[in-house]
Amino acid sequence: MVRHAFTLAIAAAAFAGTAFTETTCTRQKKCPADTPCCGLYGQCGVGAFCLGGCDPTMSTTFDSCVPNPSCKSGNYAFTDLKDMQSNQKYLGDSAKINWQAQGNPIKYPSGGVALTMAENTVGTLLASTFYVWYGKICATMSTSQGPGVVTAFIMMSDVKDEIDFEFIGNDIANAQSNWYSQGVTNYKNMEKLEVSPDTVGKTHEYCIDWSEDELSWSVDGNKGRTVKRADSWNATSGRFDYPQTPSRIMLSLWPAGLSTNAKGTIEWAGGEIDWNSEYMTNGMYAALVTKVTVDCYDAPSGIKSTGSKSYKYTSNMPTNNTVEITNDLVVLESLMDTGDAPGSTASASASKASSSAKSTKPVNMVPGGNPGGGGRQDTPLDPSSTAQATSGPDSGSSGSSGSSSGSSATFDQGNTGSSGSALEPGLAKIGGSAIAIVFAIFGLLAL
Ligand SMILES: *[C@@H]1O[C@H](CO)[C@@H](O)[C@H](O)[C@H]1NC(C)=O
Ligand SMILES: *[C@@H]1O[C@H](CO)[C@@H](O)[C@H](O)[C@H]1NC(C)=O
Repeated sequence: MVRHAFTLAIAAAAFAGTAFTETTCTRQKKCPADTPCCGLYGQCGVGAFCLGGCDPTMSTTFDSCVPNPSCKSGNYAFTDLKDMQSNQKYLGDSAKINWQAQGNPIKYPSGGVALTMAENTVGTLLASTFYVWYGKICATMSTSQGPGVVTAFIMMSDVKDEIDFEFIGNDIANAQSNWYSQGVTNYKNMEKLEVSPDTVGKTHEYCIDWSEDELSWSVDGNKGRTVKRADSWNATSGRFDYPQTPSRIMLSLWPAGLSTNAKGTIEWAGGEIDWNSEYMTNGMYAALVTKVTVDCYDAPSGIKSTGSKSYKYTSNMPTNNTVEITNDLVVLESLMDTGDAPGSTASASASKASSSAKSTKPVNMVPGGNPGGGGRQDTPLDPSSTAQATSGPDSGSSGSSGSSSGSSATFDQGNTGSSGSALEPGLAKIGGSAIAIVFAIFGLLAL
């Protein structure tokens, strides 16, 4: 899915007029030293650009990116949102926080988290702060509904290996399974898995079972599809086109059917989004995630992973045998820092406070929001339209960025006080969604 166009359109609209230089990154053109980290969407920056999604093969050095915190097996039930932090605040302490959030996740009263999407936002993305390097990952969830509305549960590595469950809002009888290797888009990989009776009315358990040699997708315990590493040899690239690098878990609801998106994306998503849809509640589309379970082990040891280690890339050929398990864990001090200088702002922020007139070049600190999670290099980036969520050093020395990454609301800033009058219309419009009713009643019980 060509998601770049979408990211750029949104980001450009949100930040038109912001004066700063954008630097894009590829393997051939790595990020420059002053903004060393190549973030999820192929742009250079510091801070959150160096955390989840930072591609070491496109960054100044392998150490520019913070090492990937290793996997933690467990059940993540989202009984509250304390285990989540906005990507405008999260500094890399994966021992304390398991989920990084963009957009507007809302606590769901009977358990779980609602991923919401209002008009003029790019929806909501939750990404695990830890990485999985093989194991079984399951999400219990119900999806949103309507043309152009895409719910997703995917695994994605920093070099864009990807394993997907995607749910197209106008085809609620199926889940789409898919995988990609190092961001090379191969649409032939897609295969539909039937979901009975549908993905919306109640939650289902979707599982990805991923080992060195085999990958399978299952719905409610029924294995729907298996892909073998051995069958994925690509003679052109000289490697197995098989997901094989440590990956974050991503759960999202995103607007693939925006008129500004690429035609192919809109078509794939079933058409343009109706922002007055009967499937919206309180002005929002929503998907519900009630549980994520992770049973992972560390390749190549095969030992069950308990966190506290990290995965590090050592080569520009990022395959399974070039990733190392290390003890290096890096937490940034502020969003002005980078993986190889995690505490560089301790003294810098003091001097910044005393001389706010001093104008340094604004740098990108938080990548813009594309909850599709996609960052594939399948469309050339247009440097003239790559404005991203940014904040210059002057506007946020504490690390909380002033601009909100293309999504209109950040959950941790609260989103309360606007639900009362929207209740009736919301209830009147309820479709078949399992989550709609309680969601409407409790409305914006936002964090
Ligand atoms: C094989 O790899 C090349 C180079 O990355 C890529 O362009 C091509 O699409 C791949 N082939 C398939 C069938 O995926
Ligand atoms: C990489 O994967 C192959 C195929 O499963 C395996 O034989 C090899 O041991 C792996 N290497 C590492 C370092 O995990």
